[in-house]
Amino acid sequence: MGRRDSSAPSVRVAGQAPNGKFIVIEGIDGSGTTTQAERYAAHLRARRRLVHVTREPSGGPLGAQIRQVLTQRLSLPSVNQSQIMALLFAADRLDHVAAEITPLLEDGYVVISDRYDLSSLAYQVTAAAQEEPEHLVGPLSSGTMLRWIRELNRYALRPHLTLVLDVDPEIAAQRRRGRGGARELYDDAELQVRLAGAYRRAEELLPGDRVVHVNGDGEMEEISQAIAAVLNPVVGI
Ligand SMILES: Nc1ncnc2c1ncn2[C@@H]1O[C@H](COP(=O)(O)OP(=O)(O)OP(=O)(O)O)[C@@H](O)[C@H]1O
Ligand SMILES: [Mg+2]
Repeated sequence: MGRRDSSAPSVRVAGQAPNGKFIVIEGIDGSGTTTQAERYAAHLRARRRLVHVTREPSGGPLGAQIRQVLTQRLSLPSVNQSQIMALLFAADRLDHVAAEITPLLEDGYVVISDRYDLSSLAYQVTAAAQEEPEHLVGPLSSGTMLRWIRELNRYALRPHLTLVLDVDPEIAAQRRRGRGGARELYDDAELQVRLAGAYRRAEELLPGDRVVHVNGDGEMEEISQAIAAVLNPVVGI
């Protein structure tokens, strides 16, 4: 599934990022992750840094399938939906890392991913907790679901930093309405409130990782400045 030819295939050990910097931006739907990933990339390009913005679901073949599920053009059975999504996302992530992220890090790029495994830990665990018990097979408490998703992502390259945009769910909902577009799978007010709670506890979801929270409720420029203050030392500017 490679999207980048390489004559010298490399073996990458989980948890070891090569030369570049791998940054992840996370938050609930409408928190501004896409906006802020692009703004920070522009900030880096203006300083002549090599930068690449990517996202999950990825632009690869597995990501395309997930996108069809999210936009509800492809429907899953009602049983074990969250588990199926967790598996799809974990597979897409390993492909994304191997085909796109690692080669660019090896070339010295700052790679900014709009979502990564924190999204799986927040969305699929929270969604499973909301599913009807008869739609779940096995004793999938939030704790077992969390451990299982961590295990699925055991070989996912660790970011240098995961930045969480904490946004009031009502503000995020207003932004989504302002943006327009069709309703998506996780577009439910109650779920988004729970997700905001999960993101506030992001450190517990990603033990051992470097996680920094930035308040994303305010004006775009003010948030961009707060993000640059966190990320510039990480990327070395
Ligand atoms: N700080 C802000 N103030 C006002 N509007 C904003 C702010 N940040 C982003 N927006 C607008 O809100 C909408 C949602 O932003 P964006 O698409 O970046 O969110 P997102 O977190 O990527 O959402 P999703 O998770 O659904 O992809 C966009 O129309 C964007 O222009
Ligand atoms: Mg987005």
